[in-house]
Amino acid sequence: MSTTRLLTQRGQLQKMLVVAVAKLRPQPSQILVVLDTRAKQVCMPAVNKALEQCKIHFRILRAPAGEANKTLTSAQSLAERCIQLGADRHSFLLAVGGGVTSDLTGFVAANLFRGIAWGVVPTTLLAMVDAGVGGKTAVNLPAGQNLFGAFHQPRFVLNDVRLLRSLSNRTWNCGMGEVLKTGMLAGPKLWQSIPNRAVAPSRRTGQMVEDWIRQCASFKQKIVRRDASDCGERKQLNLGHTFGHALETLAGPKKLSHGEAVALGLRCAIAMSLEQDLCATDYALQLDEKLKAHGLPLRFPGSLPSPASLRRQLLRDKKKGHGSLELILPIKPGLCILVQGVSATKATNTIHRLLG
Ligand code: GLY
Repeated sequence: MSTTRLLTQRGQLQKMLVVAVAKLRPQPSQILVVLDTRAKQVCMPAVNKALEQCKIHFRILRAPAGEANKTLTSAQSLAERCIQLGADRHSFLLAVGGGVTSDLTGFVAANLFRGIAWGVVPTTLLAMVDAGVGGKTAVNLPAGQNLFGAFHQPRFVLNDVRLLRSLSNRTWNCGMGEVLKTGMLAGPKLWQSIPNRAVAPSRRTGQMVEDWIRQCASFKQKIVRRDASDCGERKQLNLGHTFGHALETLAGPKKLSHGEAVALGLRCAIAMSLEQDLCATDYALQLDEKLKAHGLPLRFPGSLPSPASLRRQLLRDKKKGHGSLELILPIKPGLCILVQGVSATKATNTIHRLLG
């Protein structure tokens, strides 16, 4: 199982990367760093210096950021570049970037030579609180998000909050979608600490954000330790994702990013709870307030896909039964239930009523 560290001080990333690499057993034959465009700007010097200090041969590979690049074609080209650079079973892949980069790199690490070791330096809020942690790796298929993947735990995750300083507002807000999801799961302490106002860019590296990242990553890590392969307890981390993935696939990544789709998915999940009297109206109102404050959408951008295509897409989810869905429904902060056999038509109707 991987170790996740929160780094807050200048120079700590370089230092901790050296420590994390030194602890790897066996020591890698070489390190192949997969870096996305933004990561190159924010942390290339620290990564370079750390790896020079490690005295292990390393090479930098560029990966295009953006959900549209999380494809089998990108994975194949990354794997081929690794092989051209002399990769062997003891090579180590280091993903440095957002969630797309960690999902893609992890997917290649899971499959190259039937699995090689890897680690992550997340550079976005979303990757620090969710995507980089927990070892779910995948690429998208035209049929849907994350449909082709593997569980493959990274050896380490180094969350350096200082890398968040230059995130665009939209990318920051997307991360807040997953912070809100975790607040609904982890309980009142995290939930109530998320204010009904946006985090000013100058406060993105402050104590409040550090606490969120620490709490989200450790909440997830504890669950993943007990249920790495999503057979039981881990399913709660999919709160909002059955709706979210369907909406994200149908809208396309430009119109709806992952965090925005999760935000809409959370609204749908709480609406389904309300329909069954499982939660209080006030909880749904609190969610909407927080989504609005953090720049996340309350409605689908543009016109909603037809009920038939929404229903079809919902049923492509990995967590479905025969013609029905398995949904996580929120009751109150810190309490959700898993409901099986939810009618996909009912879920489609909720989307149309709520997001149109
Ligand atoms: N993002 C959900 C999970 O990692 O299980």
